[in-house]
Amino acid sequence: MPMRPAPWMVRTTALVVARTAVLGLLLGLSGCEKINKFITSRNGAAGGESSEGTEEPAPQAGPRLDCRDEGKLEVSLPLRNLGKRLNAQQIIVLDPFEEARVPFEGALLESLLDNVYGRRWRLKASLRLGMVGGQQTQIAVADITKYKAWLAWRRMDRPEFAVERRSAAGQLLQLAPLYLVWDSDADAAIRARGTWGWLPAVLSLDLSSSVGNPAALKPGPGTSEATLRGYAEYTTFCANCHTLYGVGGLGGPELGSPVPVSRWIGREWLRRWIDKPTAMRDRASMPPLPADIPDRARTIDDIVSFLDYAGEHPLAASATPTAAPTPSSAEP
Ligand code: HEC
Repeated sequence: MPMRPAPWMVRTTALVVARTAVLGLLLGLSGCEKINKFITSRNGAAGGESSEGTEEPAPQAGPRLDCRDEGKLEVSLPLRNLGKRLNAQQIIVLDPFEEARVPFEGALLESLLDNVYGRRWRLKASLRLGMVGGQQTQIAVADITKYKAWLAWRRMDRPEFAVERRSAAGQLLQLAPLYLVWDSDADAAIRARGTWGWLPAVLSLDLSSSVGNPAALKPGPGTSEATLRGYAEYTTFCANCHTLYGVGGLGGPELGSPVPVSRWIGREWLRRWIDKPTAMRDRASMPPLPADIPDRARTIDDIVSFLDYAGEHPLAASATPTAAPTPSSAEP
């Protein structure tokens, strides 16, 4: 399997790292009741103990990372071998939940994807990550290649695999089995996104395609500041999952054709939906706008302004041929 040499790793030997990775994973898992429960229900044995039982553990035992391509399962990686299979690295990142620099051990997401999918993942639009509890979120493939991201399985400075949420009076956020972290030290753009893209309790990956270039959605000249900000925020937080006039990701419904959401969902309801989908619909699978992004309330207003604008200015050449934007007859 391809093992890319990693210059920032030269100080650790792969063997030591691989062993500590397994230990770390066990420590991390035994610290989280919810995950142990999850593992129990999946394997009939608690995660931390499954290898010590009197029965010979099945070779498949233990938590696994399911890797899919457009929903189709490709490989299910045993998490305890991740450190061996991949180049385990020690990293220190500015954690946006804890608002402090935290050392983790994990593998570069790019290497993991290369390892699982070969180079073809680079042609996809987004990577959908499934979390313990069934939540899903989607990040842009362009972000993975532009910034550095890792899937971490252990915290180096504490036995517990968790971070403290500064914004919630130090409440612990459990991270096992895998935590998606970004190179926040290197990139101001990452820091400006707050907790966006920092995903705890990751269990599965799924590659997903999208259509068109979101830049096609950019409002024309003379648009208000709020709408322009909303456009940028929409492309960051929404376009990976939604198409708008056929442009964007395929993880959620189309928001423009045939009837723009701004026309059938009032501003106030759109605001509430973006803030917390489950407040409006039981079992909604869309994630709320991340809780800790800076200027969250203003961001929601901006996005709603942009959706308003987009509703009034449909893209001429819709990429969904069966759902071309309707002409002015639909005007209220
Ligand atoms: C992880 C994927 C994902 C992300 C990110 C996402 N959505 Fe959604 N969205 C969905 C899904 C899936 C639905 C369908 C309802 C459900 O299952 O929650 C949905 C439903 C909606 C709806 C209701 C559409 C309708 O007509 O019923 C609106 C409006 C919406 N999303 C807007 C947004 C906006 C604005 C953002 C960015 C702030 C966003 N979504 C981010 C997946 C996503």
